[in-house]
Amino acid sequence: MNKAVTARAHTNIALIKYWGKKNSELIIPTTSSLSLTLDKFYTDTTVFFDDQLEQDELFLNNTMIKNKALTKTSEFLDLVRQMAGIKAYANITSVNHVPTAAGLASSASGFAALAAASSKAAGLDLNRKDLSRLARRGSGSASRSIFGGFTEWIAGEDDLTSYAHPIQENVTMDIQMLTVVLDGSPKKIGSRQGMQHAIATSPFYDTWVAESAVDLVAMKHAITNNDFQALGELAEHNALQMHSLNFTAKPAFTYFNGDTLNILNLIQDLRHQGIQAYATMDAGPNVKIISQSADTQIISNAIKNNFPSALVEIAKPGPGISYL
Ligand code: ADP
Ligand code: DP6
Ligand code: CO
Repeated sequence: MNKAVTARAHTNIALIKYWGKKNSELIIPTTSSLSLTLDKFYTDTTVFFDDQLEQDELFLNNTMIKNKALTKTSEFLDLVRQMAGIKAYANITSVNHVPTAAGLASSASGFAALAAASSKAAGLDLNRKDLSRLARRGSGSASRSIFGGFTEWIAGEDDLTSYAHPIQENVTMDIQMLTVVLDGSPKKIGSRQGMQHAIATSPFYDTWVAESAVDLVAMKHAITNNDFQALGELAEHNALQMHSLNFTAKPAFTYFNGDTLNILNLIQDLRHQGIQAYATMDAGPNVKIISQSADTQIISNAIKNNFPSALVEIAKPGPGISYL
């Protein structure tokens, strides 16, 4: 207690998506999911529990936060305080080296870093499985950012059985992710709200649950077999299925914008030219392109030529949680 702890967590992008909860309070998902942790994007969070404070205070990217993000953080810290048997409020300083709330998984790195820093600052010594369970309570995708490389979040049934574990932390496949940021501003419909609406109103939701289980098995095979093409095809297919839930919700909504579709078209054109490029999209208009090192520069150039205002960054597999 009474020491400041800093943790770093990297973001992860799901290849098999999480899109819906069977228990909203505990964040138990309807499906298991599988992701790749990225080296390029991360969050550094410092937590200090201070008996003198009258409430939690959050500084995110050098700005004092007073809105829902503070409430979410405070509710999360209540869990940590309960586990550690302490009452003190905390000072939290966090820097996102990733756009916040733009569909690039800031909630994943954000809550994984917060889970690691706050639990240690509160005097707890959690193993990675328990850290994953804790991070999950802040944001589901954060459960996967405890680990590096390919990670599976086992849906489970309750708080004890829903956690992530590493499938392959030291990735052997030649795989990269180009992030194409068309719009880095915060989304209008948060992931939490979007998935809730899809589960409640899309007639295809049950089909999604069934198909996602099939995709997950095939994805694990692709990883074991170092089969890049199978991985890419499955990831793109699974992402489009997820977004179809939003198109078929009532009322319908989408995270895509016009350029999202233009980039999907460009990726198809590249494939017709023999370049292996596959797309995945999360709760935002920005596209992540899965590629291999020999093709990455060609793909990056094609994007820049066609979308001059897009910011393209090349990410590789990244590590799990660390303390600074
Ligand atoms: P994203 O696509 O970036 O994951 P979400 O809608 O899932 O977007 O989550 C964004 C929310 O996550 C923010 O509004 C905030 O509440 C929370 N968040 C993001 N980064 C942090 C952080 N570093 N510390 C605490 N909370 C964070
Ligand atoms: C589309 O983990 O951000 O990125 O659990 O409500 O915080 P909450 O949602 P979040 O959802 C992520 C959705 C996704 C797919 C994925 O990362 O699996
Ligand atoms: Co998120």
